[in-house]
Amino acid sequence: MIRNASLLLATTLLVSAATAGAQTAPLPLVPMPQSVTRGAGSFTVSDGAHVGTPAGDAGAAAAARLLAAHVKTERGLTLAPVQGDAPIRFVRDAGVTGEEAYRLDVDGRGIRIAASGDRGLLYGAMTLAQLISPDRAFGKPTAVPALAIADAPRFAWRGLMIDPARHFQPIEFLYGIVDQMAAVKLNTLHLHLTDDQGWRFEVKRYPKLTEIGAWRTPPSSGGAPGPRVGGFYTQAQLRGLVAYAAARGVAIVPEIDLPGHAQALVAAYPEHGVLGDRPAVSHDWGVNPYLLNPQAKSVRFIEDILDELMAVFPGTYIHLGGDEAVKDQWERSPQVQAQMRGLGLKTEMQMQSWLIDQFGAYLAAKGRRLIGWDEILEGGLPASASVMSWRGEKGAVDAANQGHDVVLSPAPTLYFDSLQSDRGDEPPGRLSIQTLADVYKYEPMPAGIAPDKARHVLGAQANSWSEYLVTPYQVQHVIFPRAAALAEISWSPKAARDFTGFLDRLQPQIARWRRSGMEVADSAFAVGYTIQGSAADALRANRVTVALATQAGAGTIRYTLDGSVPTARAHAYAAPLSLTPGATIRAAAFGPDGAALATARDFATSRAALMTRDASQFTACPRGALGLRVPLSSEATANAPAFNANIFDTCTAYPAAPLSLSDGFTVEVARLPRHYGLAHDITKVRQHYNVTPYGELVLTAGCPVTDGPKRPVLATFPLPDPASAPNRFRFTGTLPAGLADGDICMQFTSPTSDPFYAVERMQLTERRK
Ligand code: ACM
Repeated sequence: MIRNASLLLATTLLVSAATAGAQTAPLPLVPMPQSVTRGAGSFTVSDGAHVGTPAGDAGAAAAARLLAAHVKTERGLTLAPVQGDAPIRFVRDAGVTGEEAYRLDVDGRGIRIAASGDRGLLYGAMTLAQLISPDRAFGKPTAVPALAIADAPRFAWRGLMIDPARHFQPIEFLYGIVDQMAAVKLNTLHLHLTDDQGWRFEVKRYPKLTEIGAWRTPPSSGGAPGPRVGGFYTQAQLRGLVAYAAARGVAIVPEIDLPGHAQALVAAYPEHGVLGDRPAVSHDWGVNPYLLNPQAKSVRFIEDILDELMAVFPGTYIHLGGDEAVKDQWERSPQVQAQMRGLGLKTEMQMQSWLIDQFGAYLAAKGRRLIGWDEILEGGLPASASVMSWRGEKGAVDAANQGHDVVLSPAPTLYFDSLQSDRGDEPPGRLSIQTLADVYKYEPMPAGIAPDKARHVLGAQANSWSEYLVTPYQVQHVIFPRAAALAEISWSPKAARDFTGFLDRLQPQIARWRRSGMEVADSAFAVGYTIQGSAADALRANRVTVALATQAGAGTIRYTLDGSVPTARAHAYAAPLSLTPGATIRAAAFGPDGAALATARDFATSRAALMTRDASQFTACPRGALGLRVPLSSEATANAPAFNANIFDTCTAYPAAPLSLSDGFTVEVARLPRHYGLAHDITKVRQHYNVTPYGELVLTAGCPVTDGPKRPVLATFPLPDPASAPNRFRFTGTLPAGLADGDICMQFTSPTSDPFYAVERMQLTERRK
C-alpha cells in the first residue's frame, strides 16, 4: 500500500515536471513568429490524425496536403486530410488580415489554423509542421504544446538566388529548393538564367540560344580540354516548376542578364553583339567584355525573348541584370557611338540606362516590373525600375530615397558562395567568410533611408553564385543552414532577434532538412582546433597545447584521445588540452539532449602533423589576399582538394614554420586553370620573371617585401610542361642547418598566359638530433 502510494506520487511528479518542461522548452520554430502566447496543456498528434478543411476550399486543402507531406518526411507520421471539421483544422478568417498572415491556436481539444489568404494557410501549415517535428522520436505521437500564435512577415521579399548559369543544375534540384524555402517561409526564388557561361532558358523563336549558348567547353590547365558541359530548362519544365512553387507560396523571378554577362547570347547570335565577332560561350569566371548591342533590332530581339519569358513566369518582377557591364565594346564601336549621339546621350552609362528604360517600358506595358542590380542606377533610373543592391547598401539607400523599391542583397554578407568558415574541410567558394552569425546579424533596413521611404525596402535576398558550386551537394551546403538565418531576418520582427535562441531552434530545422535529403553544412557547430603558442615551441618542449572551440559557441564540447568517436558521455572540454605530441584528438559539440551538433572532427598532434600545413592554413604573401578557395578544375565534383588562392599573384606562405628543427620538406603542388575574366583589373595581375620555360616554384625564408632586403632562396623547382605533366605533383628538398623559425614564402613565377599553381600542402621533415 505504502509502496504503491509512493510510486503513484513519483509518477505524478514526473508527469508534471515533464509538462512544465514542455511549456517552457523553446518552441522548435524558424523563423520566430511575430507573437507566441503559451498556454497550459497540449494536443497530441498521432499517426492517422485527420486534418479538416472547409468544403470546396482548394487553398485550404492544398495547405493540408503540404502539412501532411512535411510531417510525413520530417516526423514519420501520416496525417489524413479530410473535408469538414476535425481536431486539426484549417479555417478561413477574414479577420486575419494580410495574404501571408495566419493564426495558429493549440489547446487540449485540437489545433486550428486560420488565415484569410492561401499563403497564410500555407504558412500556418509550415509552422504546425515544425511544431510536430521537434525531436527525434520519428513515427511516434507528438504532443504539441498549447499556444496561440499570431504571425505575419516583416518583409514581403524573402529571397534566394540560384545560379544555374555557371553550373547547370537539373530541374529536380530546384523543386527540392522550393520545398525547403517554403518550410522556412522564404517566398522569392530568383533564377539567374543567363550569363557569359551559359543560357539556360529555352526560347522557341531563337533556338540557338540553347543549341549553342547552353554549352561550353571547360577550361584546361594543360592537356586536352574536357568534354562540353551545360544544359537548359525547357519552357514546359519551367512552367511545371512555376506552378509547383506557386502552390508553396514561392514566386519565381527569372533573370536575363544584360547588357553585360551576355557572352552566351552573343555566341549564339553574334549579330546582336557589338563588334561582329563570334565568341565561344565563356569559361572565364568574372567579368567578360561581350555586351548586347543597343541597336533597334537587338532591342526587338530581347523583347521577343521577354515575351516568351513572361509567358512562362507570371510573376510581377522580371530581372534584367545590368551588373558589371564594362563598356569597352560600346566605347570602341562607331555604330554604338553614333547611336548615342543620335539619342543625345553623353556617356555609355546613360546608354545603359536608355537601354534598360526601353525594356522597363516594355515590361510595364505588359503589367510587369523591371528589377536590376544596382548598376542600373548609374546613368539615371527608369521610374518603374526596382533595384537589387549588391555592392553594399548604397544603391538601396539611394534608390529608396528616390522612391524606387529595393531589395537588399549585399555582398559579401548575403553572398552565400562566401565560405561560412575557415575550416580546412570547407568545399570551394569565395574566401570572404560569412558565418551563420554574420547572416543572422544582418539588418535588411539600412541606415540612411528616410522614414517615409522605408516602405520601399521590399526585403532581403541571399545569392548562391555558382562559379565554385558544381554539385547539388555544394549548392545546398552553402544555402543550409544559413537560409534559416535569412528567413528569420526577413520574416521575424527585429525585436525577436536572439542568436542563442535561434541556435536552439535551428537544430530541429537542421534535422528536418536532413530528413528531406538536403546537405546541411555543420561548419558553425564543428569543433576547430588552435595550437596555443607556436608549433616550433611545442615541438621543442615536446608539449602541445590545443584549444577547442566551435564557431557558433553552441553546446558542450566532448573529446577522446584514444581514437574512439566521442559520445555524450565522453570527457567534457573545459580548458585547452596540454599533451605530449602523438595522440589524435577527436571532438564534437553536444546539445542538451545529448545529440551531437556536428560530425566529430580530428586533430593529429604527432610531431609530423605539427610540421605540416595545408592550403587552408596558408597566408597571403605581402602583395594581395587569398580571395578564392578553388577546386582542381572548373567541373570538379569532389569537395576536396580545394586551394586557397590569390589569382593576381600566386604566392602563399607557410606561417611561422619551425625551420630551425627541419632538414627537409615536401611541397604538394596543383596546376589550376587560369580562367578568370578580370576586365580592367587585368593590370593587377603580377607577372614574375621566369628563368625557365614554364616558370618555377621559388621557396624563400620569409616573404619578399618591396625595396626590402632579398630573402634567402631555400629552393627553386622548374615547373613541368603544362601540356604533358600531371596536374598534381610534388617537390622534395633539403634545408640547411641554422635557419631561424619563420614564414616560408612559396612563389610561382609561371607566365601569366599559362595556368596558375597552388600549394596543396607543405610538410617539413624533422632534423634528427
Ligand atoms: C553581381 O554579383 N555581379 C550581381
